[in-house]
Amino acid sequence: MKAVVVECDYQNPQVERLIEPAKSLASGGIVVFPTETVYGIGANAFDGEACGRIFRTKGRPADNPLIVHVSGIDMARTVCDLDDRWVPKLVKFWPGPLTVVVKSSPSVSAEARAGLETVAVRSPSSPVARALISLSGVPVAAPSANLSTRPSITDGDSAVTELGDLVDFIIVSGRSPLGIESTVIDLTSTPVRLLRSGSTSLEDLEKVFGKIEVTDTARGIGEDARPLTPGSKYRHYSPVRPLYLISRNQAISIGNDDRFSDYLFLCSDEVAGKIRNQSFRLGSETDLDGVARNLYYAFRELDQRNVRGGFITMFSGKGMGLALENRIRKATSPLPPAISSLIEELSN
Ligand code: TXA
Ligand code: MG
Repeated sequence: MKAVVVECDYQNPQVERLIEPAKSLASGGIVVFPTETVYGIGANAFDGEACGRIFRTKGRPADNPLIVHVSGIDMARTVCDLDDRWVPKLVKFWPGPLTVVVKSSPSVSAEARAGLETVAVRSPSSPVARALISLSGVPVAAPSANLSTRPSITDGDSAVTELGDLVDFIIVSGRSPLGIESTVIDLTSTPVRLLRSGSTSLEDLEKVFGKIEVTDTARGIGEDARPLTPGSKYRHYSPVRPLYLISRNQAISIGNDDRFSDYLFLCSDEVAGKIRNQSFRLGSETDLDGVARNLYYAFRELDQRNVRGGFITMFSGKGMGLALENRIRKATSPLPPAISSLIEELSN
């Protein structure tokens, strides 16, 4: 199958171009579309067969549920049991990059929620996604539009390259403005629990929801024996080429050593300015939002360059920092002994 590729302006979508993709969604089709975080691969959440096709297309484990995208509170009520006390809090973040896990309505296909009693719901702010959901008239179950284990897709060209032969429509609207997935919180637990860090900051959430319990998996440190969020137990977000985490000082040292000239250094503008080897500038150290926008894009760039692998430095802190730290940890592998002894030699 060859997907029909539809170009659409992100801010002011040409609604007439979305009519066919919306019809396709409503009648069992699979449509890739841009959200403010990353591109999604969507199907009608009520249609078990269509949702099943998403799992097969991505190679996604069947026990990892999808996020259901809705146009707002009213549509959310058709897919879940939404306690009235959450509504005033939710509308502070919706539309936007916050996903909430709540009790599911039976109407949501078992495939979309991977057989769980709960469902993950979010109302995206992307004007294209909003127009598409409204036109289709159905809630859209959509995981990130990458093949399973690969980095999420944050630009239309990568969506066409990776999924062009596998879906019905691909709506292309340039680079995703945020670049990292939505934050996922569990509203069925007290206190509210952070299941996945993301584009809505913990600090902003706590102002509205009170103290939030942060699990180790949400930080990216270790894996829970019984994961609270099924997605956390799988390898994720990784480039195909090996990517190693090193410190800022190590980057400056080996980034100027010829033995590492066939590696790509993913680092801040500040570090890139101090090294001679090939680098990909993620953005300024003082602009974590900018780094988030570029991170997955850089992972894909690493796979396209003719290099042996990559090195990346850590970004952490408030705001986007928590999500960046989690994604970087999940994407990197331990340094092989040969490389770590070379690094050690250089720093002596
Ligand atoms: O920004 C985003 O969230 C993007 C765009 C497309 O909206 N979507 C996305 O979906 O990142 P996906 O499938 O890649 O991640 C969904 C996450 C997974 O970690 C999954 O385990 C978790 O949400 N999840 C879904 N339903 C859940 C549930 N009922 N309970 C706990 N975790 C759930
Ligand atoms: Mg994903």
